[in-house]
Amino acid sequence: MAFDRAFLDELNARCDILDVVGRYVQLKKSGGRYFGLCPFHNEKTGSFCVTPERQMFHCFGCGVGGGVLTFIMHAEGLSFPDAVQFMAAQVGMQVPETQADPREAQRRKRLLGLSTEAARFFHRQLWLPENATVAKYFLNRGLSRKTMNNFGLGYAPDSFSSLLNAMAEKGYSKEELLDAGLASRSERGHVYDRFRHRVMFPIIDVRGQVIAFGGRVMDDSKPKYLNSPETSIFHKSRNLFALNLARKTKSDYFILAEGYMDVIALHQAGFDSAVASLGTALTDEQVRLISRHTGKIVISYDADGAGQDAAQRAIDLLKKTDLQVKVLRIPGAKDPDEFIKEKGADAYRKLIERSESDNAYRLESIAAKYDLDEDEERVRFLHEAAGTLAKIDNAVEREVYAGRAAKMAKVTVEAMEIEVKRALSVRRKKQKSDEKRELRAVVSAAQPRDRTLQYQNVRSARAEEGIIRLIFADDSLIDEVAARITPQEFTAQVLQKIFAHALTLHRQGHRVTIASFEGYLEENEMRHLSAVVGGDRVNTANWQQALGDYIATIESCRMKSGTDDSGEDPLLRMSRIHREKDRLGGI
Ligand code: GTP
Ligand code: MN
Repeated sequence: MAFDRAFLDELNARCDILDVVGRYVQLKKSGGRYFGLCPFHNEKTGSFCVTPERQMFHCFGCGVGGGVLTFIMHAEGLSFPDAVQFMAAQVGMQVPETQADPREAQRRKRLLGLSTEAARFFHRQLWLPENATVAKYFLNRGLSRKTMNNFGLGYAPDSFSSLLNAMAEKGYSKEELLDAGLASRSERGHVYDRFRHRVMFPIIDVRGQVIAFGGRVMDDSKPKYLNSPETSIFHKSRNLFALNLARKTKSDYFILAEGYMDVIALHQAGFDSAVASLGTALTDEQVRLISRHTGKIVISYDADGAGQDAAQRAIDLLKKTDLQVKVLRIPGAKDPDEFIKEKGADAYRKLIERSESDNAYRLESIAAKYDLDEDEERVRFLHEAAGTLAKIDNAVEREVYAGRAAKMAKVTVEAMEIEVKRALSVRRKKQKSDEKRELRAVVSAAQPRDRTLQYQNVRSARAEEGIIRLIFADDSLIDEVAARITPQEFTAQVLQKIFAHALTLHRQGHRVTIASFEGYLEENEMRHLSAVVGGDRVNTANWQQALGDYIATIESCRMKSGTDDSGEDPLLRMSRIHREKDRLGGI
């Protein structure tokens, strides 16, 4: 029995795995994961692990694993459909009749078409004589007509039905406007335009499709911005404003700003690599998106307290990747938009050049909290600064900034270094105990535990596992992986099945997560998947290199095993030869 994917996604979103498992198992945090005693076999040391980030669990002792629904299947002894019913009842969801998938794909296509039509409608309004004040609003804020056109800015008229009517003429129903987040329904069931008397900022994904809108009032009324809700085509944590433009930049860095207006002003001033998160704090997914397009990022948030706090949090997230992070400070409590309007593009370029490394920025921020002329405050500064410096992995860098901190607090470099050493040893001790845990966690046997899943070619299968881990770590890589290898080229049956399903999910616009395999894989296959995915941490920074290595391994195994001239599908063989030619620069 197949459930509608959108329903399962919603159900999973409402059942946080930590909450659910926490009702059965006592968990303790270690790194980004939680450990406890496995409820499914007898043990004295906790090898049962929950990874909230992936919404999965895995026991390194007995090998059981999966998502939240798999956990419930085991814990309550239920079939998959019954586990779905069980969890749905707990969170008050109605289980829908089963739906066919093609309809869902069709529906998404309609919503994307509708969003584009809506953007056209809003944009047309901007240039109507009766809306002259709206165009003036943007012009007054320093935007040129060209910029307004480039960003497809628009205006939602002061009416409850103008968009509904215009879209009805194009054949879109009220239901579809509701689904696209363009209309709302009153308590009495009346459907009306969601965006009214607001200037409109279309949000466009990397494929160039309009997926949502931000709408701003033109005065001081509240809320200042109204954004599209999450819809089946818009997930705000997975998109960035203006990424569709920034990805084409020639500069070797991105600028991360806070507001739509900041980004637009930056682009107009020639900084065509500016992006912004969409009215929320930066997310891991957005960081991954950024790191796929650039190696260096300059954070340019508002100069106010909220902006600076947000910058600190953004640094933490960005530092998890290989990105080089710099922080730009704007003098005089201005945001980038205001600064450029007042001082011009060249002045802003100078700020970029002068932007500080994240470490210098952090030290400055700590120093700003203390009065360094007071002895006691200096001690507290030293303590906090040492804690921050201990987090720098590179010893030379650490020394440079320790010197700087010493100067700031007017103490000797030696005193500062002693303090840093102390903080460092505390950190190392903690790291060691974390590592022991990790090491225990990474018990990777060459063969699947389940005999029925045995690998024919272990070396090839290990590389295939690597590919699976890559796409689970970042499913936006799938298109590029799929361009280089097909499921048929996988030698391990179970991995082939997993890879093929991942492709299907992705093509239908779904995420590739452990949860999206529940109900599809057999229980033993799910165990195996959770072992493959749940093992090592995956660093996707060098994914291209890793992918190349995996594919080379798979190919060399195929040559050796002799299937190359006997068993290989002729079509497959041709496509592989083509790919090899491509890599050699084409012939
Ligand atoms: P201007 O005031 O026009 O210069 O706007 P801005 O783009 O500079 O935005 P601001 O710095 O005030 O806020 C940064 C971002 O946070 C905005 O671009 C929005 O995405 C979001 N934001 C700001 N205010 C609101 C609000 O009232 N509601 C929501 N949902 N988001 C908001
Ligand atoms: Mn602003």
